[in-house]
Amino acid sequence: MNAQAYFKVEGLHKNFGGLTAVNELTFAVEKGAIHGLIGPNGAGKTTIFNVISGFYKPSAGKVLYEGESIGGLQPHQVAAKGLVRTFQETTLFQEFTTFENALMGRYLHTEASMVSALFGTQRKSERANEEKTMEVLEFLGLAERKDELALNLPHGLQRALGIAVALTAEPNLLLLDEPFAGMNPEETRHMMDLIRKVRESGITILLVEHDMQAVMGLCERITVVNFGRLLTEGTPDEIKRNKDVIEAYLGTDLNAA
Ligand SMILES: Nc1ncnc2c1ncn2[C@@H]1O[C@H](COP(=O)(O)OP(=O)(O)O)[C@@H](O)[C@H]1O
Ligand SMILES: [Mg+2]
Repeated sequence: MNAQAYFKVEGLHKNFGGLTAVNELTFAVEKGAIHGLIGPNGAGKTTIFNVISGFYKPSAGKVLYEGESIGGLQPHQVAAKGLVRTFQETTLFQEFTTFENALMGRYLHTEASMVSALFGTQRKSERANEEKTMEVLEFLGLAERKDELALNLPHGLQRALGIAVALTAEPNLLLLDEPFAGMNPEETRHMMDLIRKVRESGITILLVEHDMQAVMGLCERITVVNFGRLLTEGTPDEIKRNKDVIEAYLGTDLNAA
């Protein structure tokens, strides 16, 4: 890896009381990559995302984006720099439409309140926000569903809408937390296409995911964590053959991927 990585965490620690969820973790992501971050349940993946995106402060260590230290910034400050995350659980406003949910992404990652998002009190930029929102919905194939309530969308499209909420914030680096969770094979294939398309649009992706087929199919490099520590890193083929990884995933058939 080059001296100044596009994105890097260095010696990162996160403790919760006596529990060390992230331990001396260092890894880097190249610009333009789809980079996988995998590990068994409880390995610390979501905590890593929470620290990177500013939801938690690191206990120690650095988060570096284009050489700049961003560890400990507030979530809206991190988002303003172009790092935007999605959530492991669906966090849509179920009673709002597809369009309203996606539009919210324009505000959720800023200091502006949801009230101003919904009632358009920020009139100045309202039009631009709506245009950007429609552009994202078209990009993700959700435009035809724009007036449907989120709760009426099938699971796969709800997850795609979760990505739309992030994309309307115009990220450079998108952090996806288990976007394939609960998907059937067809939904999985569709989501893989969407993620490739997002990357082709110039957005770097850090992907946390349990679906090995998706991870192996999408990522050029994969970082494996276990008990909050770096286990190994490599290409999908290297990871599939690594005996420490196989042991950490005991019972999971990595070769099915
Ligand atoms: N807010 C928190 N408070 C206390 N412990 C937490 C908190 N968030 C996560 N943990 C613990 O940190 C560890 C890593 O969790 P998590 O990051 O959710 O793992 P993963 O996403 O890899 O499944 C787990 O032991 C979890 O219980
Ligand atoms: Mg998690």
